[in-house]
Amino acid sequence: MHPTADLAAHNAPLRAPAAPVVVAALSHAGAMAAVALVPLAGLALPLPIVALAEGIAAATLGRLLGLPAWWVPINLLFVPLALLLSGQQLAPLWYLAGFVVLGLTFWSVLRTRVPLYPSSREACGALVHIIPPGRIRVIDMGCGFGGVLARAAASRPDAQFTGLELAPLPALLALLRLRGMSNAAARHADFWKHDISDYDVVYAFLSPVAMVPLWHKARTQMKPGSLLVSNSFAVDGVRPDRVIALPGRDSRALYVWHM
Ligand SMILES: C[S@@+](CC[C@H](N)C(=O)[O-])C[C@H]1O[C@@H](n2cnc3c(N)ncnc32)[C@H](O)[C@@H]1O
Repeated sequence: MHPTADLAAHNAPLRAPAAPVVVAALSHAGAMAAVALVPLAGLALPLPIVALAEGIAAATLGRLLGLPAWWVPINLLFVPLALLLSGQQLAPLWYLAGFVVLGLTFWSVLRTRVPLYPSSREACGALVHIIPPGRIRVIDMGCGFGGVLARAAASRPDAQFTGLELAPLPALLALLRLRGMSNAAARHADFWKHDISDYDVVYAFLSPVAMVPLWHKARTQMKPGSLLVSNSFAVDGVRPDRVIALPGRDSRALYVWHM
């Protein structure tokens, strides 16, 4: 049974972390405010140096605010690259190509409100530890680039891993990434339309808005004894059976429910 009482007390430690893109935007705002002080201090630095200083400041701030390490190159290079591109006479086709790539990766977020954000190595390690022994069937609901599936399938050759991904480009990359593995596969599909009654472990790293519908789907479709594992996001009002804290500064955790 999953009690739904005691919500206020229960939800306090389960607050969702801020969206990384918001943290990144804040980091750049802080970094730009800092570099704006340079001319005020009477220093006349060349623009590329100012752009690089902004990048270093934004990358540092981002890390201090809890962004994972893979955001460092993004924050570091964002303004210097924008400056570089603005000085080039690039054919409009390049901008169109960039728009198409971004669209094929992020367009579905407008509908799903679930951004693409890969699970950490620590989350994958913790997931592998809680997958029961035997010929277990595991699904990653929204598998992104297939990183969780690739890592978990390599450590658990006896288990079978499936990933569904709605965004076309990540789905294609996940499919290609896993094509050499006999116990893992990914495909382009909407997990809301997929029956999950066959799986022993359902893994989801989504967003706060997806959690209540996910819980209803799990309660309706998952078989008794199976595990629902959510990275970072709890279900409002439903106490998890286990909370596995993940190392790192952003207080993430895996929430586990025995169905
Ligand atoms: C936070 S990412 C997690 C990626 C991967 N599971 C991981 O842990 O590294 C969530 C992913 O779910 C995908 N997604 C969101 N809604 C979906 C849906 N209805 N069907 C399939 N994929 C979905 C998003 O496109 C995104 O790639």
